[in-house]
Amino acid sequence: MEVVICKDYDELSQKAAQSVVNVLNAKPNAVLGLATGSSPVGLYKDLVRRHKEAQLDFSQVTTFNLDEYVGLPQTHEQSYHYFMHENLFQYVNIPKANIHIPSGTTSNYRAFCEWYEQRIKDCGGIDVQILGIGSDGHIAFNEPTSSLASRTRLKTLARPTIEDNARFFDSIDDVPIYAITMGVGTILESRKLVLVANGENKADAVAEMIEGPVTSMITASALQMHPRAKVFIDEAAASKLKMRDYYDWVQAKGPGAPQT
Ligand code: F6R
Repeated sequence: MEVVICKDYDELSQKAAQSVVNVLNAKPNAVLGLATGSSPVGLYKDLVRRHKEAQLDFSQVTTFNLDEYVGLPQTHEQSYHYFMHENLFQYVNIPKANIHIPSGTTSNYRAFCEWYEQRIKDCGGIDVQILGIGSDGHIAFNEPTSSLASRTRLKTLARPTIEDNARFFDSIDDVPIYAITMGVGTILESRKLVLVANGENKADAVAEMIEGPVTSMITASALQMHPRAKVFIDEAAASKLKMRDYYDWVQAKGPGAPQT
């Protein structure tokens, strides 16, 4: 895992965006895995800026979102369909037919989850998956004790996640209890992972993810098993790391020995 500690949220957002752009430059028809929540908002802003100012082209891009709340219509302001439209899709030129977000209103979740998994495969797999991390260490909505081999399915949200996300709703009772989410196994099949995290309330989860044991209690720790996982964090989110000096040293010297 490559750990990039940045001075603030703007810097981590820009560096993470650059990591996604590198994939797009090498493969203009890349398949992007997208996350919602507050963490990747700056990354999306930077992609939008590059689209406007530097003609970053999304016309051949395909996207798959990680998750969606069960029961919220696409037009609901807290649905992840709405979030993606507001933060990215309305500003860039991704063809509508290439956008995939799990349905929170399907009448057959089992069939939908199977279709979603198959659709990812049919599109050639995800080239780069953007991720955030929950304060309980989840990625997507893979709550503690989720199988590290899990696939797209329904999950019951954990109480800390409902409490964290209550800030977006009028009342905690309005936060959906169920979500449809890619599994940890689905996420690990992406060719590259880019995780962003900021703020002190993520510090414990970030330390467990990077330096703790691989465990289903912190599903983000599964990133340790991925060959190309990059984590972009700010000072506050990095504050509980024991190997801080090493991560800074690696960034200063370049991650990896010189190529011959
Ligand atoms: C959302 C998602 C979640 C969030 C996590 C952090 O698509 O996958 O795992 O990334 O809950 O949320 P924020 O960024 O709002 O702190």
